[in-house]
Amino acid sequence: MVFGNKVKEKKKILKMIEIAPSILSADFTKLGEDIRAVETGGAGVLHVDVMDGKFVPNITIGLPVVKSIAKIAKIPIDCHLMIEEPSRYAVKFVEAGASMVSIHVEADVHLHRTLSAIREAGGKAGIAINPATSLNLLDEALPFADFILIMSVNPGFGGQKFIHTALEEVRKLRMMINERGLSTRIEIDGGIDVDNIAKVVEAGAEIIVAGSAVYGKGDASKAVSELLIEASVWV
Ligand code: DX5
Ligand code: ZN
Repeated sequence: MVFGNKVKEKKKILKMIEIAPSILSADFTKLGEDIRAVETGGAGVLHVDVMDGKFVPNITIGLPVVKSIAKIAKIPIDCHLMIEEPSRYAVKFVEAGASMVSIHVEADVHLHRTLSAIREAGGKAGIAINPATSLNLLDEALPFADFILIMSVNPGFGGQKFIHTALEEVRKLRMMINERGLSTRIEIDGGIDVDNIAKVVEAGAEIIVAGSAVYGKGDASKAVSELLIEASVWV
């Protein structure tokens, strides 16, 4: 009976962990196929990195691509807006088919307004935060967000090295959320692979973004399954 309960409990926690492959590292000549592969591997969310060449030094994907992806994706689309003036575009990404939209705290001085607009449009609203930005900036905004995206690299490029201070940030944020009895989810993004995924899950992250660890290995489907297995070790 005790054993049975433990199994049940473990299953419940396992369900909460979602791998969010970042298509930034996918092969854009066969994007549909690459999306299908991660869905087969058990991905929970599809992470789409939107960059404007101003907030970050890179330009990537915009609304037309999200609209196309939305026609074929079976899992929710998570748009990470690394753009200036995100309030101008956030709702448009929900309308294009994103279920989750995150805006950077460093890019928007009207967080409440933008987060509310995302929610009103039917999306889950997230706040993304850079590695060197204080979590204190999230203090008042926390209840207005469905999830927080902790950056564990400086945004702009895939394939960078994990910044270790992000672990402590996840732990602190988990405490802030638990102490207030909120159900805000924690997403982490950058430099995550099979060697460190257990640590970020243990720290309290639930949605784990992985780009090069998924699409840089040849078999994206297998890579997602392996990440899921490693993530379950510590929960
Ligand atoms: C970086 C992006 C990430 C990136 C992650 O600015 O926000 O989502 O694609 O790629 P990896 O997992 O390779 O660090
Ligand atoms: Zn991202």
